[in-house]
Amino acid sequence: MIQVENLQKSYGNLRAVDGISFEVQEGELFGFLGPNGAGKTTTISMISGLLKPDAGSIRIGDIDVWHTPKAAKRMVGLVPQDVSLYEELTGWENLQFWGSLYDLPRAELKANIEEWLERVGLSDRARDPVAKYSGGMKRRLNLAVGLVHKPKVVLLDEPTVGIDPQARNNIMEIIREIARSGVTILFTTHHLEEAESLCQRIAIMDHGKILVTGSVNELAKGVGDGDIVTVRGPFTSAQFKTVFTNDSIHFLSLADGEAVISTPAVGSGLALITQRLSGAGIEITNLSIQKPTLESVFLKLTGRELRD
Ligand SMILES: Nc1ncnc2c1ncn2[C@@H]1O[C@H](COP(=O)(O)OP(=O)(O)OP(=O)(O)O)[C@@H](O)[C@H]1O
Ligand SMILES: [Mg+2]
Repeated sequence: MIQVENLQKSYGNLRAVDGISFEVQEGELFGFLGPNGAGKTTTISMISGLLKPDAGSIRIGDIDVWHTPKAAKRMVGLVPQDVSLYEELTGWENLQFWGSLYDLPRAELKANIEEWLERVGLSDRARDPVAKYSGGMKRRLNLAVGLVHKPKVVLLDEPTVGIDPQARNNIMEIIREIARSGVTILFTTHHLEEAESLCQRIAIMDHGKILVTGSVNELAKGVGDGDIVTVRGPFTSAQFKTVFTNDSIHFLSLADGEAVISTPAVGSGLALITQRLSGAGIEITNLSIQKPTLESVFLKLTGRELRD
């Protein structure tokens, strides 16, 4: 449903999006995961037709976004990272304003507005000016604004940023619901848990490039079938490294005080780790074992954690 080929965008010398290609199938919930500055918003802005690419092509269904932008706009709903609401207008008026840009028949737009106010839980606040809404309420209205014309493709740019866990769950549930109704969804996040729990497939992006694409399971397999062991203690990274120089231990990350290791088979791997450390007199204060997660995939690919 979304086909992106060799997409590029630079700001001056900075390659914000550096030749990326990917496809999102019809009805799929596809996640774009990456740290701050990875190029997620730049990518979404080009797909939604707001920002002109330097090179590459974007197709939505049969439509080339940059050859027939009008047709593409009707099919796509954008929920931007920065909330785009008029504070002095009411919730209803905001939906009316943004919805009127799509040439829907009046009655249809009105029905859509009512439906979306209901779905985001704002029906009883619809007549209040947005200035009186809480942060979470604004996020929910922002979501409804992008969806009010019932697009077939929805682009969500960090729809849960800056809100409390309850409002976040609420928004995630709404996203699941739209996905179930057959809408194709591309959404960006730097929350691993969000991507893991929502998405069928994920692309991990950093420095303008897609590092890897696949289902959570496929990506986790890339780290190996074994387990991830995290060791903490008052050691330096240099001390830690010398202990394992001759072993086939794979460090996902190593810093003073914390080592994250991928072991092929947890039983023997763990025994080796603890034996070596105690043999070298290195103290461990905490040791935990996990199955590979997106966090470990990300660590392996970039050597750093995916945090704000
Ligand atoms: N209008 C602009 N002018 C110049 N540089 C820009 C502009 N917009 C983005 N950039 C730069 O392009 C790179 C990618 O930015 P982008 O906003 O796409 O990242 P992102 O993945 O959405 O990050 P975040 O998680 O912080 O939203 C960053 O280095 C950013 O500073
Ligand atoms: Mg962004």
